[in-house]
Amino acid sequence: MKSYRIALIPGDGIGRDMTAAAWSMLQKAAKAHGFALEGTEFPWSCAFYKQTGAMMPADGIETLRSFNAILLGAVGWPAEVPDSVSLHGLLLPIRKSFVQYANIRPHRLLAGVEGPLKTTAFDILCIRENTEGEYSGAGGRIHQGTADEVAVETSIFTRKGVERILRFAFEQARSRRGKLASVTKSNAQKYSMVFWDDVTRQLSAEYPDVEVTSYHIDAMAARMVMAPETLDVVVASNLFGDILTDLGAAIQGGLGFAASANINPERNAPSMFEPVHGSAPDIAHLGIANPIATVWSGAMMLDHLGEKDAATAVMTAIEAVTENGIGTVPGKDRTDIITAALLTAL
Ligand code: NAD
Ligand code: IPM
Ligand code: MN
Repeated sequence: MKSYRIALIPGDGIGRDMTAAAWSMLQKAAKAHGFALEGTEFPWSCAFYKQTGAMMPADGIETLRSFNAILLGAVGWPAEVPDSVSLHGLLLPIRKSFVQYANIRPHRLLAGVEGPLKTTAFDILCIRENTEGEYSGAGGRIHQGTADEVAVETSIFTRKGVERILRFAFEQARSRRGKLASVTKSNAQKYSMVFWDDVTRQLSAEYPDVEVTSYHIDAMAARMVMAPETLDVVVASNLFGDILTDLGAAIQGGLGFAASANINPERNAPSMFEPVHGSAPDIAHLGIANPIATVWSGAMMLDHLGEKDAATAVMTAIEAVTENGIGTVPGKDRTDIITAALLTAL
């Protein structure tokens, strides 16, 4: 029997319950489709940091490298560990070390989910650059705490990095409805963003079948609310993609529905699957978080592993549940009720 080794990192807050819910679904799907998922859980989190002084052991990345994929809940507990420490100690190093340069985030309404917009017929795939740009981590602070303090944080855009994410997005557009929206802010940022627009234009010659339009991020934010049905694939830099995908989550009914895959397209290191949302400290102990975003991310993991039928079965189960009105309204159904309904549907 085919078997995949999965690293489970539940993390903090609701991440723990969300990962448990997704894992039970994935195990059931695996059994039904004749393959095995062998999970190894890592306690790396803010609690782990408080015990050990690090978010993961020094050889954490090397430990993860041998797995077929990583399923992550959420990282961050800002009341106890600064986000700038926790995220740079776990989530962001995984994305960068494993060159998971394509962060894929689908935004559409699941059956039975209403969402806040009048328009309901949209199906957007956001492709977020995931290893450089505004998240490069190049910078510093001097004269800290004085009146002469200076803080610098430089965005880094490389031809290699920009070309590969745009190429990935062109390919996605080609496999969908043939439309690509490339998002920058080249009217204000005249080096990096003009460069991104230039590369978009250069590559478009190789994809004559893809209709590409460049948008400024501000106009794109408005378009995602006012006319999301006009969008197919949307590609953006790391920070712009981060912001647009919380907006994407909002128009699809909330963060409880927004899935995400951090993909290493070359497959020379594991990819990581996680919801768009974080640890949700405000509801962490209430048992009301929606596991659908993480379950959907798990379906993306099965798809990535090549288990297409199992992935489809999980997505079908999700929509059977939401079509019945379970898990569609934030806070209405408890996590365990939604999870039980998902398992039954599967
Ligand atoms: P958040 O996504 O955790 O929460 C934002 C809002 O959405 C909250 O009101 C929360 O209750 C709600 N929400 C989130 N997920 C939900 C779900 N599944 N069901 C129902 N409601 C849900 O964002 P935040 O509050 O800005 O961040 C909290 C912590 O998580 C911070 O430490 C932050 O850095 C971290 N974070 C981590 C990740 C990640 O690990 N990938 C992503 C985003 C934020
Ligand atoms: C996300 C999150 C992370 C990001 C944070 C927690 C660093 O918001 O995955 O969207 O900005 O990438
Ligand atoms: Mn985000």
